[in-house]
Amino acid sequence: MIFPSNLKATLALTATAIYFHPAHAATTVIPSTSFSSYSTFESFWWGSDHNGRNSTDHSHIALASSTLSLIATPTSNAVPPTSTANPNPAIHYASGAIHAQSQITVTSANAYTISGEFSSPTAVGTWPAFFQQAVNSWPPETDIGEWKGTANNWFNTFNTSSIVKSTLVSWPTDLSFHALKAVLTAESNGADVKIDFYMDNVLQTTQYGQGFVGQPLWLIINLQQMEGSSGTPGPSGTTTYKVRNLEVTRSGS
Ligand SMILES: *[C@@H]1O[C@H](CO)[C@@H](O)[C@H](O)[C@H]1NC(C)=O
Ligand SMILES: *[C@@H]1O[C@H](CO)[C@@H](O)[C@H](O)[C@H]1NC(C)=O
Repeated sequence: MIFPSNLKATLALTATAIYFHPAHAATTVIPSTSFSSYSTFESFWWGSDHNGRNSTDHSHIALASSTLSLIATPTSNAVPPTSTANPNPAIHYASGAIHAQSQITVTSANAYTISGEFSSPTAVGTWPAFFQQAVNSWPPETDIGEWKGTANNWFNTFNTSSIVKSTLVSWPTDLSFHALKAVLTAESNGADVKIDFYMDNVLQTTQYGQGFVGQPLWLIINLQQMEGSSGTPGPSGTTTYKVRNLEVTRSGS
């Protein structure tokens, strides 16, 4: 579902009959209202917990005040459930993950801006993330938000599983909301993608994804992985990761 974001500007251009440059036309891929109701949410995102999608169970994926909460709760330590996927690890937390229904494909004829505001836990064993991962193979992957149990956000771009550029930026531990933004444009070689990463509207780093042009990417928000790279043991209580004002726009075609 695609909404024209810049209707007013388009009408103004039409009215005054000045040049209309297609490269400047912006299309809203995900509007900032996508967390305003469950029905709007479900038209832009698909979500799951460890047991698969259940649109009536909001214990791990919840909306309130146009804000998404992903909520991780410890499972029973006595007999933890195990994953159905090989090698069937024990699941220590029940939590949530959502994917944008629209895949994001950067080409030489477009550019994407992805932004939102995040209240991200940084306690040991909590691993919230906001990232793009290839639909067809891995990598490409680029991480706009990744917090691994310390007071840092990691901006990452993977060319291969071992060739990765990471830029750590300090992140407040008080659960206050801060803005993150990534602007993705194709390089002139028609193969690589340049990614400018911002925090609170200040450019923090520019990274380059090799061969990312033309590769469809999922946009994912998750708290599905706890512990692991974020350390152990994870929290004994509930962990909540919040996101609001998330928006994806595309210029060009
Ligand atoms: C979905 O969640 C609701 C509320 O927790 C529950 O009653 C229902 O059985 C669940 N449905 C499935 C298919 O698991
Ligand atoms: C990934 O590839 C791009 C394009 O070739 C290059 O500019 C960048 O430096 C590479 N990243 C790393 C970490 O080597």
